Amino acid sequence: VMDEMERLSIEQLVVCQDRASGLRAVIAVHSTKRGPALGGCRMWAYKSEQEAIIDAMRLARGMTYKAAVFGLDYGGGKAVILGNPETDKSEALFKALGRYISYMNGRYITGVDLGTTVTDMDGVGKETMYVTDTTGSIMATDDFTPEMTAYGVYLGMKASAAAAFGSSSLQGRKVAVQGLGKVGMRLCRYLHEAGAELLVADLDGGRVRSAAMAYSADIALPEAIMQEPCDIFAPCAMGGLLNDETIPKLRCAIVAGSANNQLLEEAHGQLLCDRGILYAPDYVINAGGLLITAREIQGGSAGDMMRSVEQIESVLRLVFRYAKSAGIPTNQAANRIAERNIKRA
Ligand code: NAI
Repeated sequence: VMDEMERLSIEQLVVCQDRASGLRAVIAVHSTKRGPALGGCRMWAYKSEQEAIIDAMRLARGMTYKAAVFGLDYGGGKAVILGNPETDKSEALFKALGRYISYMNGRYITGVDLGTTVTDMDGVGKETMYVTDTTGSIMATDDFTPEMTAYGVYLGMKASAAAAFGSSSLQGRKVAVQGLGKVGMRLCRYLHEAGAELLVADLDGGRVRSAAMAYSADIALPEAIMQEPCDIFAPCAMGGLLNDETIPKLRCAIVAGSANNQLLEEAHGQLLCDRGILYAPDYVINAGGLLITAREIQGGSAGDMMRSVEQIESVLRLVFRYAKSAGIPTNQAANRIAERNIKRA
């Protein structure tokens, strides 16, 4: 673990154990150079402690880059609770986590992530003020986060279209959306309103039919949508989908979607670049949630938050310009901009 900690330049690891509540958790702080470490709390039945610790460290590092590429005054962190979110939750458990976070005195601020909910954050909030997504916050309003994520992806697509086609208009552009969940379905609404032609796929036939009805979308099979000819391919389901096997089959000019960790490995960014496909780096285009969280901590209205999400368009334009002038793939360009911002802090 220490070697991986060194390799990922992790500032601090806090291992938490509370026998009374059964809490077993790890808080990884990757960097506080630009400000307090932001990043949600995940709860997952990890196979081993090592897997949990390494997951926390990698996710924390990802959060540092995500905040830094936007020049936010925050660093990156992540908490992971080892346990089954269906069966192992109690208020005492989240209160115990809250006490550990309060000992950290503002170095780390938590929130909702996979496996945790607003109710869980209310528990954390009984012990510390360093928590977001509690009842009463704008973030906790039903579906505000996926709505803002979808809005950010839509704006990111416009920036991508401007770079690839010379015009940010999506009128008449064919967009293939993979995954019609909380983000994908809302993205379809923005695209339909902008006059794009939609092609959609999901494992859930009901969602596909809804998109066809509401947004006049054409339907593709889940296993085929990546190979359909289109202007923009929007992955909004699972990660790791851009790999040696799939990249040669793509027939799009742009990949721009909400899914996390779209590239199986960083090197696949080069492969996309070699094929002349413009890739909107996932952690930039899907940053809506982080941008509104940062805004809410500083006290902002829903309107302020929406404006904050609009930075995605300008930051992506910067990433594309940097990639072009340095002759590097866009994922590397985003990393370099983030690293430059961390160094400058
Ligand atoms: P979700 O769970 O609501 O929706 C995912 C959808 O993808 C489901 O409808 C599912 O049936 C479908 N799906 C799964 N495998 C598929 C496949 N092979 N082909 C076609 N469809 C498939 O998830 P949500 O919240 O919409 O998130 C989507 C992606 O965006 C995830 O990767 C998530 O990590 C990422 N993301 C979500 C954010 C949010 O605010 N919800 C924020 C940032 C990233």
